[in-house]
Formats: sequence, structure tokens, C-alpha cells
Amino acid sequence: MCGIVGYIGQREAYPIILKGLKRLEYRGYDSAGVALIGNNKLNVYKKKGKVAELEEYAVGKDVHANIGIGHTRWATHGEPSDRNAHPHISNNGAFALIHNGIIENYVLIKQELVKKGYTFKSDTDSEVLLNFIEDIKKNNNCTLEEALRIALKRVVGAYCILLIDVNDPTTIIAARKGSPLVIGIGKNEHFLASDASPIIEYTKEVVYVNDYEIAIVKSDELILKNLGNEKQTPYITKLDMDLAEIEKGGYEHFMLKEINEQPDSIYDCLRGRLLLHDGKIVMSGIEQNIEILKNAPRIIIVACGTSWHAGLIAEYVFEELCRTPVEVEYASEFRYRNPVIHKGDVIIAISQSGETADTLVALESAKEKGAFIFGVVNAVGSSIARLSHAGAYTHAGPEIGVASTKAFTGQLTVLIMMALKIGYAKATITHERYIQLMKDLESVPEKVKEILKDTTNIQHIANKYKDASDFLFLGRGYNFPIALEGALKLKEISYIHAEGYPAAEMKHGPIALVEEKLPVLFVATKDSYYQKIVSNVQEIKARKGKVIAVATADDNVIPNMANDVMFVPDADEIIAPLLSVIPLQLLSYYVGIAKGYDVDKPRNLAKSVTVE
Ligand code: AGP
Ligand code: GLU
Repeated sequence: MCGIVGYIGQREAYPIILKGLKRLEYRGYDSAGVALIGNNKLNVYKKKGKVAELEEYAVGKDVHANIGIGHTRWATHGEPSDRNAHPHISNNGAFALIHNGIIENYVLIKQELVKKGYTFKSDTDSEVLLNFIEDIKKNNNCTLEEALRIALKRVVGAYCILLIDVNDPTTIIAARKGSPLVIGIGKNEHFLASDASPIIEYTKEVVYVNDYEIAIVKSDELILKNLGNEKQTPYITKLDMDLAEIEKGGYEHFMLKEINEQPDSIYDCLRGRLLLHDGKIVMSGIEQNIEILKNAPRIIIVACGTSWHAGLIAEYVFEELCRTPVEVEYASEFRYRNPVIHKGDVIIAISQSGETADTLVALESAKEKGAFIFGVVNAVGSSIARLSHAGAYTHAGPEIGVASTKAFTGQLTVLIMMALKIGYAKATITHERYIQLMKDLESVPEKVKEILKDTTNIQHIANKYKDASDFLFLGRGYNFPIALEGALKLKEISYIHAEGYPAAEMKHGPIALVEEKLPVLFVATKDSYYQKIVSNVQEIKARKGKVIAVATADDNVIPNMANDVMFVPDADEIIAPLLSVIPLQLLSYYVGIAKGYDVDKPRNLAKSVTVE
């Protein structure tokens, strides 16, 4: 997820590109850059940080050009820095490329190119793609367009790329697969961008480029082709969204957009790692440290908030699959209680932002005591990622909404893959169970899509209970942390007091709260705790509590006991939390909307708590 802008026409390209990049900063930025061709010179300016820092850096430099490309980066390979910023320049100095996405097989391609004498200025996968294109062009003595086409048939991954050649200042070549690209049609000019926000002020006529298409863009001509070099007819549509809507992908709020991005963000997390046909999970951070992880006497999980809930689920999953003792700690408590830490202990730090002060300081002290730190982080190159000995990124893309949604399911996805890998290495799970869980995990994006297809029932439930003053969320086993997460979501989005409990814990006191006006939400998908939770529902019904349930689609027991039900597809109980959390994210969103609150920026909250 990042921002891409290109321009070719009669106007000065730089101001258009710079303004466009600023419009796209919501898509994530850790660095920004532009490549311009003016007076037959290729000028590339790029800086770590925001677009404003690029702008400052370029003051006084030669930015004259009628053709150019610009990029705001959301790093996936290679930490945020000047040298890892895009655009990248080819070894021959003639080509410049920007890329949005992930090239999964870049390591193999890079090894081949290094053997051929290619040099690399960055650690990115994108620069590998560029040098690969140069190598193909040289060896096949073909056009840049043809070299790109050949390269794209070989690379695996997602991309939206813009490519320019100083020897041909009349053309921008673009291609997409999995990452968006929009082309604005102007009068003797064309605009290219990741979405329409940089384009809409110049033209409302756009072409949405499809996967596996290549665009050859000149000021007065747009040619679309497929990878088979067959011309495609550009389909021109008229934009009817305003700027604010475009930034949110047409959704009313970033939170709703990010909830709906989860089929893609979970897929991006699995991409290149869960290789079901090969029967293996590839995670270099695990492979390179497998002995430490296999032999860890215990795992301590340190996190805050929603990330802590992900850690609670990981405790159940790791103990079940790896038989390694796991403790889950609130980072803020862990850092002050002078914990007992032995060398060899593994600490898993979970953080979306990678900048949470409580988590960061807890890790610093644990590292000093000799623990091995494994980071599960979303923001590449963040403080927690850099402090960790190893890690795995969740690849959820920038999460703008303060409430963590797609980052949470990305964390769970990484943690489940980790536990599978370590469990398989320890032989604490059978090959059959390993493959079965891989299959279940691979089916999650489609099952999440199914839940998101029709949310009218969830909206109805949200409107029915929006005036409740208190809420209970109950669950057992893997769904207990989901009950806690559902309660947190409702609290932080609708400001309703909500508590999560293990369902069986109610009889030890909290059941005194139950009365007719108290909504009690059960996360009660079919699993090994199912019969027990049916009894827990009966306990609440007997005391006239209002029961709302998250239930498995084919369940006909709990739905008949509940006042309201939200269904999710069936899945193994280890995988089910990835599904049962979705209705709870939506419930909190729609209750917050019904109460007229700012769901993207709830009161008193910050997206990243970088203070104690
Ligand atoms: C989640 O919805 C909250 N915004 C909050 O609890 C968050 O999970 C917590 O502050 C931890 O943030 P981190 O994942 O960036 O470390
Ligand atoms: N994978 C590329 C990188 O890490 C592109 C990331 C992006 O989409 O911004 O540089």
C-alpha cells in the first residue's frame, strides 16, 4: 500500500506529482521520491519521511520536466531510508521505476543478477525488478515495453509500476497486478495514480487498469495491452466521487474501509508464506532462528490493547500446537514488575504501529536480560521492528482508523503460521493436522468475504442495542480473547461500557449483573467448548438476559436460544477467531455510527500510543 503518481503532457510535471503525492499520503508513507525527465536528463530526488521533506529537499534543484513519476512508500522489504525510497534507477542509469506491492520471488532473481554483475543501491524488491527488466532488455535486444512484459511473466507477487526511460521522454510505461492503477484522460495529457484523488481536480474521465494489463502512456495516446501483447480497449468511466470519498475508497470511514480490506490484507499476509501446494510455510525470520524458537523453555508475549488480545489467542495456539509454555503480559505491567527473564526465553512483541512506548520499553529491558525478541509488527522499519532480533511483518498496509481491525487479523494470521511452523519443526503436531490447518488458513480470505457480503443484520442489531448502558461479551477457549476484543471495540468506538469475560466465569460473581436490559453477547462458534457454552447461554437466559450470539452458519441450537444472531462460516477452532471477530468489528462500527460518533478518531484515543 503506497502512493503512485505519474504525469505526461504539456504542463510542468513536478508540481502536479508533488500535490498528487500529498493527496495519497493517507495510503502510508515512510519515504517519498520523484523521477523527472527534463532537457533529456533524468533527475531523481528522494527522501525518507513525508512528502514535505522531499519538497524541501528539491528546492533549488532542476525539476523542469513534462514527464515524471512520483512515489510515497509503505515499506515491505528494506527499512525506510533515503536509499530504499523510490524511484529506483537502473544500473545503466537510463530507467527509473516506482512500485506499489510485493515481489515475492525477488531473492532468487537478485541472486541471478548479482552473478551477472548487477549492483544494488537498496534492499528493496522493487530495485530487483528494475534491474531484471534492464537485463532482459539487454539480453533480448528488445524494447523496454517488451522487456517489462517478459519480466512480469516471471515475477510472483503484486505490483503497480511506472517506468520511464531517459532515452524516450515521450512515454510512461505502467503495469498492474493486485495493486491499483487509475489513468486520468486529459487534453494532450495523462495522469496516472494509485487512486483518483491526485487526478480528480484535472479530469473526471478515468480508466481503471486491470490486472495483467500494461499501459503505454503518451501525452496524446493511451494504449492498453495484456501480457500477451494484445491490445485491450480502454474503458473510460466518469468519476462521481469527491476527494474525501476517494481517499476512503468509496467507504464512509477509514474504519469501514479497513474492515472490508481484510480479505485482501489477510491474503497479503499469507502471500509468499503459506505455500499449500508445497506443503510448507516460508518465514525467513523463523527459519533463521528455528533452534532458538524450538528450544525456548517458554514464550512471553508482550503487547497492549488489541495486540494483547492477539497475544492471548496466540497463547492458546502455541500451547496447543507447540507445547511450549506461554505467558501473555500487558507491556505496561511487564516493564515495571522486574520480571524474571532467563537467557533463551523468547519474547514475542506484537504491535501494529511498532512505536507503542509501553511495548518498546518492555522489550528494551527484556533484551538487556538476554531474551530473544521476535517482533510481529505492521509498520516496516518501526522502532519495535528494529529492536527485535527477528520478526515477521503483518503486511496489513497502513491502518488509519484508530480502532485496530485489519492489523489484528494480520497479527493472528502471522501468529498462527508461526505456531504451525514451530510445531511442525518440534513434531508436536502431525503432518495431517499441519496440512489441515494450512488449508483452513488459506480459506480465510474467502470466508471473511462471505461475512462482509451482507451486513444488514449486523446494522439492525447495532441499532437495536445502541442505547444500552452496559454490554457483556462472553466466550470460551479461542473465542474468549475475541470476546475481550469485541468489548474493547465497542468501548473505544461507541463509548458504551462493555466487559469481556470467560463465559464460565460468570457464575463466580459477574452473573449478578444479568437483568432484562443487559445485552450479553456470546462468541459461540462450534468448537470443542460448544456444549459448555450452550449451558452458559442457558444460565443467562434463565435470568432474562438478552442474548446476542456469534454462531457458526449451520448451528441450529444457539440461534434458537438467542435474541439475535450473527453467523460466520465454519472453521477449525484455531482459525475461527479470524472470522468471529469480523461481526464484532462491524457491530462496534455501526453502533458508533448510530450514536453519531467519529468512528475514525474516537475521543481521548490516539492511533499510536507513543507516550507512557
Ligand atoms: C486497538 O483498537 C486500540 N487502538 C489499541 O488498543 C491498540 O491496539 C494498542 O494501543 C496497541 O497499539 P500497537 O498495536 O500499535 O502497539
Ligand atoms: N515492496 C516495495 C518496497 O518495499 C514497495 C512497497 C510499497 O508498496 O510502497 O519498497
